[in-house]
Amino acid sequence: MSQIQSVRARSVWDSRGCPTIEAEVRLTSGVTGRAIAPAGASTGAGEAKELRDGGARLKGLGVDLAVSAVHEVIAPALMGMDIHDQSGIDAAICRADGTADKSRVGGNSTTAVSLACMWAASRHAKLPLWRYLSGSDEVGLPLPEIQIFGGGAHAKGSVDLQDFLAIPNGAKSFTQSLEWVAEVYHAAGKALTQQGKNLGVADEGGFWPQFGSNEGAIEALVTAIESAGFQPGRDVSIGLDLASTQYHDKGVYHWRSENRRFDRDQLLDLYNRWAHDYPIISMEDGFAEDDIEGMRAMTQVLGHRLQIIGDDFFVTHAPRIEERARLGACNAVLIKPNQVGTVSETKQAFDVAQRLQIDSIISARSGETEDVSIVHMAVGWGVPQLKVGSFSRSERMAKWNEGLRIEQDLGRCLAYPRAHLFPWLAKP
Ligand code: PGA
Ligand code: ZN
Repeated sequence: MSQIQSVRARSVWDSRGCPTIEAEVRLTSGVTGRAIAPAGASTGAGEAKELRDGGARLKGLGVDLAVSAVHEVIAPALMGMDIHDQSGIDAAICRADGTADKSRVGGNSTTAVSLACMWAASRHAKLPLWRYLSGSDEVGLPLPEIQIFGGGAHAKGSVDLQDFLAIPNGAKSFTQSLEWVAEVYHAAGKALTQQGKNLGVADEGGFWPQFGSNEGAIEALVTAIESAGFQPGRDVSIGLDLASTQYHDKGVYHWRSENRRFDRDQLLDLYNRWAHDYPIISMEDGFAEDDIEGMRAMTQVLGHRLQIIGDDFFVTHAPRIEERARLGACNAVLIKPNQVGTVSETKQAFDVAQRLQIDSIISARSGETEDVSIVHMAVGWGVPQLKVGSFSRSERMAKWNEGLRIEQDLGRCLAYPRAHLFPWLAKP
C-alpha cells in the first residue's frame, strides 16, 4: 500500500495554445504520477463543467482558479488515501466538489487529478498502465478511427460536418492500421494541394479543405482511399462525426456552408442515401444531443448496417447511456474521460455499454496535449476502438505512437480487429 502525500497542479498549454491543467500526485513511497486534462470545442451541454478564470486575460481561459481548487479543495480530501483505491479516490474528489456537474472545482481539475492518481498507482505497482488496468485479462490494441478532413467547430465552419474519418477495418494489426491510414492521409493531402483546396490543418490535424459541399468531402475521402491503393469498405472505410448539435436549433438542422435546412426525416433520408452510396460504417452524433427521437429513428433504420455513436448525446454519463440506449437510441458510445471528470465514472460508462452489448470508442478532445492516458485505458480496459483526431501534430501522434509501443510489448496481435466489430461487413 502507498498513500497520497501531496497533489500539485500547474497551468500548462494545450494544442490550441490555450491553458489547461496538469496534476502531479506524489506518494509516500516517493513515486509520482502526472496527467493533463484535455479540452473540447464542440462540447455537449451535459458535460462536466470546466473551471476557467474568465475576464480578459487569455480570452478568459486561464486555469488559475482550477489550480487553486486542486490545492485548496481536492488535495486535502485525498491526503493519506491508498493509491490503489481509485474508486475511493474518485468518490472523495466528487464529495469535495459537491456539485452534480463538477462546477465547483471544475471537471478539468478533477480529470487531471483522477488520471494522475491512476498513473501513480501503476507506477507504484511497477507495471505499464495498460497492464495495471487489465490485471490478468488478455488484451489487444484498439481499432483506430483517424480524421482525414476536419470541419465544423474545428475549422471555422469550412464544412458543417466535423470529422471525416478513415477506419482501417481490414488491417491485421494496429501497426498496419496506422500505415494504411498514413497512405490515405498523404493521398488526400496531395490531391487537395493539386486542386488548390488545401487551407492547412484543422484543430485535430486533419486537412482543412475548401470543398463546395459536405458530400464533396466524403467523395474526396473515397478517392483518397482508392488512390492509396485500398478497396473502400473492405480495407479502409469511412466514419463521420456529424456533431449535429452544432447546427441544430428547434428541430431544424442548418448547414450554413451550403445554406441547406433539414428536418429530422429529411436528414435521416440523406444519411440513408449516404450509407448506401458510400463505404460509411460509422456515424457519430447524427442527431442533436437532445433529439432522442432522431437518434432512435436513425438506429432503427440504419443500426443493422452502421455504427451509430452518441458523443454529446451521452456525454460519457453512465445513467444517461443506460436510459437512452435502452430506448433504442445508438448502438455505440463515445467515451471521453473529461466529459464526466473521473476515471471511475469513465469506467462506469464503458461498463454500462458492455452490459448493454453496445460498442465503445474511447476518444481524445480537440484540445489535446502529450498525455497518453486514453491509449492505456483503451488497451487496459478492452475498449475496442480509439479516436484521437488526425495523423499529424504531436499531440495526436503521441497517442498513436504509444499504441505502437504497447503492441510491440505485447508481441502478438490478439483478435485484431475485434471480431465483433461491424458484423454486417463480410469477414475474410
Ligand atoms: P471536441 O470534439 O473535443 O471539440 O468536443 C471531438 C468530438 O466531437 O468527437
Ligand atoms: Zn463527436
